[in-house]
Amino acid sequence: MIRAIYPGSFDPVTLGHLDIIRRASQTVDELIVGVLNNGGKTPLFTIEERVGMLKEVAEGIPNVKIMSFSGLLVDFARQLEATVIVRGLRAISDFEYELQMAQTNHKMNPQVDTMFLATSLEYSYLSSTIVKEVAFFGGNIREFVPEPVIGRVHEKVREKTGK
Ligand code: PNS
Repeated sequence: MIRAIYPGSFDPVTLGHLDIIRRASQTVDELIVGVLNNGGKTPLFTIEERVGMLKEVAEGIPNVKIMSFSGLLVDFARQLEATVIVRGLRAISDFEYELQMAQTNHKMNPQVDTMFLATSLEYSYLSSTIVKEVAFFGGNIREFVPEPVIGRVHEKVREKTGK
């Protein structure tokens, strides 16, 4: 039985994330999407909002669970008895940081290995940061995020900018 964690900030979840969730869930027995709740970054969405959106968009996938975590990813993995970390790789620019993280995590918890999935071509340019940038400047984000997330992003932008 392989239990894997797909960790991230998911601020907000994009179509690229959802694609990785779908594909990873087909290769492992159980996939836990771990939403980072660390104090350092100031996300646009609260942890509850990010978890809520992920639950909504991943609802139909039977072996996927959404959980939040704080602290070290390897401790979360240990706690859940997960042995695989899933990460999507978009471009060569992702590789250096991802390799460093994978190697550090394996050093800290040798029970855990990182499995990289190549991002599908149609989402290779996409990131949560780009989505927020487009939304803040009034652009259309329909091609970037799952349908239920579109309104939430616009709502949040209105809240922050008063427009
Ligand atoms: O979506 P992101 O922001 O690229 O995800 C980064 C994430 C959450 C995978 C990474 O920051 C992480 O695992 N943070 C938890 C703290 C930790 O374990 N840091 C050491 C990694 S070497």
